[in-house]
Amino acid sequence: MLIKSSEITSEMVFNKRRRLIAAGLAVLALPAVDKGYALLLQKQEQAKQPFPPLASMPELIPEVLEPTPLNIITNYNNYYEFGYGKDDPSKATKSLITSPWTVDIGGVGADKPGLYDIADIKGEYAIENHVYRFRCVEAWSMVIPWNGIKLADIIRAAQPNSKAKFVRFTTLNDAQQMPNAGWSGGAYVEGLTIAEAMNPLTLMATGIYDKTLEQQNGAPIRLVVPWKYGFKSIKSIVKIELVEHMPQNTWWKQNDREYGFYANVNPRFDHPRWTQATERVIGQLGRKPTLLFNGYGDQVAHLYPDPGNRLYFY
Ligand code: MTE
Repeated sequence: MLIKSSEITSEMVFNKRRRLIAAGLAVLALPAVDKGYALLLQKQEQAKQPFPPLASMPELIPEVLEPTPLNIITNYNNYYEFGYGKDDPSKATKSLITSPWTVDIGGVGADKPGLYDIADIKGEYAIENHVYRFRCVEAWSMVIPWNGIKLADIIRAAQPNSKAKFVRFTTLNDAQQMPNAGWSGGAYVEGLTIAEAMNPLTLMATGIYDKTLEQQNGAPIRLVVPWKYGFKSIKSIVKIELVEHMPQNTWWKQNDREYGFYANVNPRFDHPRWTQATERVIGQLGRKPTLLFNGYGDQVAHLYPDPGNRLYFY
């Protein structure tokens, strides 16, 4: 039987396909923890290929994230200790003194607890740059170019032991400096599993656009967990505890029907009062579809055994 010339695979295309198949097999052979990262590399490799035409493989085109302008990031905020309006924090936070500042790192899971000066923390670890999507549970979003330290680096320095199963974070609670301090009945608290905290995406941010973090964005140091709703990204942290039991975070305590512990972004699980399928991009017109795990599934989906369980998505 004759083979049409259009059915013959050119050597170049063949070699490219072979590389892709090899990359795929390599991913399968990796231990579970490395799969997400390897898949990301594989996607990047695929994205470089000129064949087949990109138009027929839209899922392989890496999205170019366009950062939100700094004046929007610093003027549209949620920081209830300074008021409930979006422009309250940018006006009211200047009363917050962010230097000197200490972070107390400890808990039953830390063999090397300590009280650290923010200047020492910033000097001790590599400051990385990460442009992340930021998705609030209220269904708005931005893209933020963060500067920060891997939370994993800070946790390793505290020498976690077998009791370190969760990490509990606490915001400063000071009525002298925060006009609406204690709005939730105490300090703002958040939590992560130890695996979430050690994930390389999880940052302790100290800057945005290479400028020192402003108070309204959580100066001098705040958490950034890009695959979760923004309320997990707790601001102005004074305490980090490695603990044995799941800590109850502030919004879960406020309303356990609407907010839970995991709060991973998922367009298929609506908030009881609004859709999570789409989001309003602050600074732009219209809405765009929300992505599962806010677009970071390759790196984090392996952390959640049942993607159909609402438990993980509110
Ligand atoms: N942290 C504290 N201490 N207090 C808050 O009110 N709001 C959370 C989170 N961290 C909040 C907080 C919510 S709901 C969101 S969406 C983000 O901060 C907003 O971060 P941004 O103002 O830097 O965009």
